[in-house]
Amino acid sequence: MEVIRAKTAGFCFGVKRAVDTVYEQLEKASESTTIYTYGPIIHNEEVVKDMKQKGVIVLQSEAELDALTEGTVIIRSHGVEKAIYDKLNAKGIKIVDATCPFVKKIHNIVQKESTNGNYIIIVGNPQHPEVEGIRGWAGIKAVVVQTKEDIDKLTIPENEKVCVVSQTTFNYNKFKELVEIILKKSYDVSVLNTICNATKERQTEAQRIAEEVDAMIVIGDKHSSNTQKLFEICKNACKDTYYIQTLDDLDMNQLGSVETVGITAGASTPNNIIEEVQNNVRIIF
Ligand code: F3S
Repeated sequence: MEVIRAKTAGFCFGVKRAVDTVYEQLEKASESTTIYTYGPIIHNEEVVKDMKQKGVIVLQSEAELDALTEGTVIIRSHGVEKAIYDKLNAKGIKIVDATCPFVKKIHNIVQKESTNGNYIIIVGNPQHPEVEGIRGWAGIKAVVVQTKEDIDKLTIPENEKVCVVSQTTFNYNKFKELVEIILKKSYDVSVLNTICNATKERQTEAQRIAEEVDAMIVIGDKHSSNTQKLFEICKNACKDTYYIQTLDDLDMNQLGSVETVGITAGASTPNNIIEEVQNNVRIIF
């Protein structure tokens, strides 16, 4: 029996860095210091629950952040708008910045472009916290587009300098399609593809493994959209694909007699959950 675990299963570099940062801060902090995260550090209940038990308080809104008078605030991997740093700095509250460096790079690009007086088009979901954060560094000449219709509605004057960036998790083909439409407008456009490859790499590897194995296990939170997508990809390549949140959901009888099992996991699945599944599948078969 062979168990193949995807190398890209679980946390991406930026999420791992943010989660590690919280635990490091918990170790370093004195008893009297409260550690806050601005929003849940990751969309995984088990991890957030563990952090809460260790004393971390999750700030759910800007109003809660406004009410703070002390402590350390950890910024999650999605990043936040400049105004949040300004607010915390003005209060003298310590900031520990766990913004993913790939997201930080976009903040730096749009801030520079905005200082030079240029327009900025952010391709992404306007409601996503990462995009809200990017927008907050991009000045008043920034717009967010997600569809062709959004581009049709743009009111940027002709011949203006326009810089196009993307939300890190945006679909590459859709980005390309939207950029082609923007390029047809009479702007002086520079395009920076700021999409992060972590998601794409995880999907490509999952598909490759699913094509090779007799059964495939996809581990992740039921509400995680990237895990749902992984499951779809694997299911298309391997009909015996199972979507589980933890080992408890795995029905070993269902797996039947197989010779090879592949395992992958969504971006917010912690390593210990993946390992637990991996070890048990090994023992049983
Ligand atoms: Fe992860 Fe950072 Fe990419 S958070 S998905 S490595 S942009």
